[in-house]
Amino acid sequence: MTLKDKHIVLGITGSIAAYKAASLARLLIKAGAEVQIVMTPSGKEFITPVTLSALTGKPVVSEFFTANDGTWHSHVDLGQWADLMLIAPATAATIGKMANGIADNMLITTYLSMKSPVMIAPAMDLDMFAHPSTTRNIELLRSYGNIIIEPAAGELASHLIGKGRMEEPEKILTVVEDFFAGEESLSKKKVLITAGPTYERIDPVRFIGNYSSGKMGFALAEECARRGAQVTLVAGPVSLKINHPNITRIDVESAEEMYNASVKAFPEMDAALLCAAVADFRPAEQYKEKVKRGEDILNISLVPNKDIAASLGKMKKSSQILIGFALETNDEETNALKKMAKKNLDFIVLNSLNDAGAGFKYDTNKIAILTSSGERKDFALKSKKDVATDIINETLG
Ligand code: CTP
Repeated sequence: MTLKDKHIVLGITGSIAAYKAASLARLLIKAGAEVQIVMTPSGKEFITPVTLSALTGKPVVSEFFTANDGTWHSHVDLGQWADLMLIAPATAATIGKMANGIADNMLITTYLSMKSPVMIAPAMDLDMFAHPSTTRNIELLRSYGNIIIEPAAGELASHLIGKGRMEEPEKILTVVEDFFAGEESLSKKKVLITAGPTYERIDPVRFIGNYSSGKMGFALAEECARRGAQVTLVAGPVSLKINHPNITRIDVESAEEMYNASVKAFPEMDAALLCAAVADFRPAEQYKEKVKRGEDILNISLVPNKDIAASLGKMKKSSQILIGFALETNDEETNALKKMAKKNLDFIVLNSLNDAGAGFKYDTNKIAILTSSGERKDFALKSKKDVATDIINETLG
């Protein structure tokens, strides 16, 4: 029983997909979980509390009080009881309220009181899902550390075809099972992660940078922390937020600052994932004042930055694992293998700019992992969160 004795609060909201929540509750219970259902008032329009309480063996909670005897239902107690809160289906309205703390029903107050991780499986029409407000609210939820179970693409209740359909209960069960299976797999491990771009200053207002968003490195940090690792995240300039008690974030700007922070932290680490897109060069001199436009050509000489990966490769003890990343446009595998050898890495994660949907600009990525003993494993195009899971499974176990 993969979920034996796990306490799960299953939140159900007013979507047509609420009917699937009954199968989901049943699957969770069959896997050993104790399930407490919390519904929004409109959730009850789609599936009856009687069906659900018969499945879970517990009265469904949806009001702050039971009308006939005045019993108060404590969202605070539910927040303490749960090992996981899973909201499936989550409508655009509930996602918006969760993102903004609008605590006008029992489900949202329970969410705000939750001490455990929260997973959200959105369900809505494709245009609602694609609306910028939904995208923003989902990003906010991610920034609170909540896990989004991406909706699937397919035919929707409206008969339109697109992304918005709640993921199937069997798939959600697998996500929950994997979540608990990995929970403590990295406990007591210390992991260094570099993420994002670096900015190399030209003058007080200009810099040389790159398009790295930091999303892949942040997804790795979240996944390592969730599995119990103590993470030191050295982040270049990115607009991402991260919130987990196991993550210590060190913000840096330049390659030199990233180098100094990484070299200082590495001796204590069990592993390092070097995901940052570090600038290879910096201006030889930084102008103290803003450079004025003139008629002449402006030449900026560049000098090489120190290679963080190669430096850590030299410092590496046999117990430490070093994982690098390579973004290649040509002769991908040959170049990646050369980098792995040159920098003394144990693994290299290869992204190709030739793959649609992979690389800097996307929330998805497509990778291959190469080992120092010459093996190669290819993965499908996935969300960066799922890619992080694959990378950690393959490299840190
Ligand atoms: N890296 C690093 N420090 C640098 C440059 C790169 O730690 N100064 C790391 C990256 O974080 C990545 C790996 O090295 O894990 C590969 O980076 P890449 O820039 O592709 O390698 P380079 O050696 O710079 O090769 P090239 O620019 O020739 O492709």
